[in-house]
Amino acid sequence: MNVLKKFLVAALAVCMAAPAVFANGDQEGGSGGGKPLIGVVMPTRSEERWNKDGNAVKEGLEKLGYAVDLQFSDDDIPTQLNQIDNMITNGVKVLVIASIDGSSLGTQLKNARAAGIPVISYDRLLMQSPNVDYYVSFDNYKVGRQMGQILVNGLKLDNPPKKPVNLELFAGSPDDNNSVGFYQGAIDVLQPYMNSGVVHIPSGQIERTIIGTLRWDAAEAQKRMENLLSRYYSGNVILDGILSPYDPISLSCLEACKAVGYGTAGKPLPLVGGQDCIVASVKSILRGEQYATVLKDTRALGAAAVELVDKILKGQTITGLDTTSYPNGATVNGRPYVVPSLLLDSVIVTKDNVQKAVIDTGYHTRAELGL
Ligand code: BGC
Repeated sequence: MNVLKKFLVAALAVCMAAPAVFANGDQEGGSGGGKPLIGVVMPTRSEERWNKDGNAVKEGLEKLGYAVDLQFSDDDIPTQLNQIDNMITNGVKVLVIASIDGSSLGTQLKNARAAGIPVISYDRLLMQSPNVDYYVSFDNYKVGRQMGQILVNGLKLDNPPKKPVNLELFAGSPDDNNSVGFYQGAIDVLQPYMNSGVVHIPSGQIERTIIGTLRWDAAEAQKRMENLLSRYYSGNVILDGILSPYDPISLSCLEACKAVGYGTAGKPLPLVGGQDCIVASVKSILRGEQYATVLKDTRALGAAAVELVDKILKGQTITGLDTTSYPNGATVNGRPYVVPSLLLDSVIVTKDNVQKAVIDTGYHTRAELGL
């Protein structure tokens, strides 16, 4: 378990020791005390972003007069299925779901449709089911391009050194459709540099299924990085950069590199980006270790989901929908079902724009960043 996960698990243990606070704070349960009840399910509490997402959605809905049953699923699929079953039984008016495995909820989604409960797929696309009404997320392909662009900028691939630049690639969880967009976007940016020989992948490991990290587990990625370093990087072969789809993976990979002498004179740390703009990564960026991250403002995503719930329940027209980008593998009337989507923008964050993009916008405070 990496340090961040340990911290979050410890924080969770403290919270669980105070059930009264949790019961009142997170689970309104039942009918919602006369207010329309909305079910919100997040994949896990042990990652910074899903806590922020969950709370943003809950607070936003409560401000509009809704009651909220917010659940975190501990990255455990049966737990998530159970939570959704209970929400349907409790008569929620809308379900907002960030899945663990996007293809595992078919029965629950069918039951929700049968009960007349609209379903919003939150951040991660719910797959293989026509019973998904909307998708609210970021433009995940663009996020992937930004991950690739971070390496192009940081390693100056347009003005390359004489020697090929050695990269290793990491991808996200294979059961999360976002991993597909992130990978595709990044590879589309990097492929020309691989084709021209500017970039070399010493391990030869490029396929998404091979470089994927189940459940985004940073400890697993760290092990893979350790293996790659011991197997392919001896003598003069130095790792120059890492494609990372997720900040905790970036930090773990940097740890693996430090353990074999990177970050000392003559052997700089490889350049690595990331995603989510977590506090630990912004601190690392400010220290000059992680090079960059992609900020997906969870407050904006939460607000978009809240507005969508409210419009659905008020029968208002929903505008700005993308109706071409996200087929989810299901078919309706013999045609691929494309989930109507609201897609937000993301921002690359480096040391140069931390102040403007992260602190001035209040995403993280100076105090959180230890400044
Ligand atoms: C999200 C990322 C997140 C990852 C791991 C993805 O589906 O889009 O923001 O880093 O899951 O939780």
